Amino acid sequence: MSKLHIVANRLPYSLKKEADGYELIESVGGLATGMKSVYTEYGGKWIGWSGVNSDELSPKESDAIDQKLLEKSCVTVPLSEQEILEYYEGFSNKTVWPLFHYFTQYVDYSPVNWETYKRVNQRFADRVLEVAEDGDRVWVHDYQLLLVPEMIKSKKPNVTVGFFLHIPFPSYEVFRILPWRMELLKGMLGADLLGFHIYDYERHFLSSVRRLYGYEIAFNEIHADNRIIKADSFPMGIDYAKFKNTSASVMQKTIQERSELHKELEKYFMTSPDRRLILSIDRLDYTKGIPQRLKAFRKFMEKYPEFHGKVTLVMLAVPSRGQVEEYMMLKKEVDELVGNINGTYGNINYTPVWYFYRAMPFENLVELYNMSDVALITPLRDGMNLVAKEYVASRGNQTGVIVLSEMAGVAKEMGEAIIINPINEDEIAEALHRALTMPLDEQKQRMGYLQERIQRYSVYKWAGEFVDALENVKRIQKEFLVK
Ligand code: ADP
Ligand code: G6P
Repeated sequence: MSKLHIVANRLPYSLKKEADGYELIESVGGLATGMKSVYTEYGGKWIGWSGVNSDELSPKESDAIDQKLLEKSCVTVPLSEQEILEYYEGFSNKTVWPLFHYFTQYVDYSPVNWETYKRVNQRFADRVLEVAEDGDRVWVHDYQLLLVPEMIKSKKPNVTVGFFLHIPFPSYEVFRILPWRMELLKGMLGADLLGFHIYDYERHFLSSVRRLYGYEIAFNEIHADNRIIKADSFPMGIDYAKFKNTSASVMQKTIQERSELHKELEKYFMTSPDRRLILSIDRLDYTKGIPQRLKAFRKFMEKYPEFHGKVTLVMLAVPSRGQVEEYMMLKKEVDELVGNINGTYGNINYTPVWYFYRAMPFENLVELYNMSDVALITPLRDGMNLVAKEYVASRGNQTGVIVLSEMAGVAKEMGEAIIINPINEDEIAEALHRALTMPLDEQKQRMGYLQERIQRYSVYKWAGEFVDALENVKRIQKEFLVK
């Protein structure tokens, strides 16, 4: 059986510098948390960056890190400080990320960053070419590596290449702004199969291919210079059973066994039976609409004084891309808004917003999912948003309400959530009120449907369908050549 190798900028494990060396931690973000569950099933390697600056490593340290990661079937691609600045923080996160999320005002058009992006993509491709043998399959992930499919295909045409974009693909009118739009598309078209979370991203991509390259497109097959390439949508799922089972097991723990967080949450609810918890979880990213969410919560407090002292917003934000200016500004804005709300509506016994700026251990995350009455998920743009699915999977008793942005890919699968426009603060405030007063029967009915749907299309199913579709494209390509 041929192997399947994964290529993504970030490995499922990142290294964190500690006083006495480097510690291996689990990477955060939808791509890493989702793919981590499946990658070992296909007998290949995961090729990616370890998260450290290679300039700071001695050859001995570097070897030790490579060895540690290889034990987890990971092959490292080193990045120097300059490359982190220009490829990762630069072209990936100051050019492609904001453009593809429609934040055109944040886009940086530095040609220097583009040159480094090309060079680093080539390094990833070279590493893949060392690892992959003829007949193997390679699955390239996300916007940091848009050029890699073509770089692999042009050297080893017998390797089957799949590509999955974890973020939105924007409308042609936005994509065309980019000076390097032709090169990026050419890079992506090196893949045999291109996957997107939802049909809208797929059709935006096909529209750009048609307009910029003029290729004939029949349904979702691109006829490109004597080659057939397929595009399709595959909404990414989660490891449903892992959330469901962990949620059940943490709730069964005895009082002594429970985590500190769990005990605190129980104390909170014990103070008064009508206390409620609203949960907000994301990487601290401007696409997630965090300031707008806080302002909507403030509006809710303004409009519904009867909830003062009874409702708390638990806000988890994982530090992310902290060296990029827009992320630093966002951090400041969020700090100030949290301070403002707590200053205005808090008192000695009551803090309206509990704000944690850090990653949480998995069990604590699940405890919060399990014990929160409402999940408030309001991104301005989001490729998918797995947090919404994780909340659904963790609701053992089938209660709980999701207030969800229409701009998240996941909204297409969650008609039972309360769908809102993420910049409409009044609408979100009203949705919060509706969620907090929704009868239990209605909650259970909605959650029941959601659970059934999200459980059915888990991350395993998602990956399996993508890999099957990749095999299918190979067959179509062979038939096309015979003709
Ligand atoms: P993105 O990929 O843009 O970060 P997703 O919602 O798709 O957004 O994925 C985020 C992932 O990161 C989820 O799997 C979630 O559980 C995890 N995560 C988010 N916040 C935290 C946190 N504070 N601690 C630990 N994991 C987190
Ligand atoms: C999103 C992207 C991933 C990325 C993750 C975390 O999920 O789609 O490609 O890995 O965010 O961001 P980071 O920059 O820390 O890798």
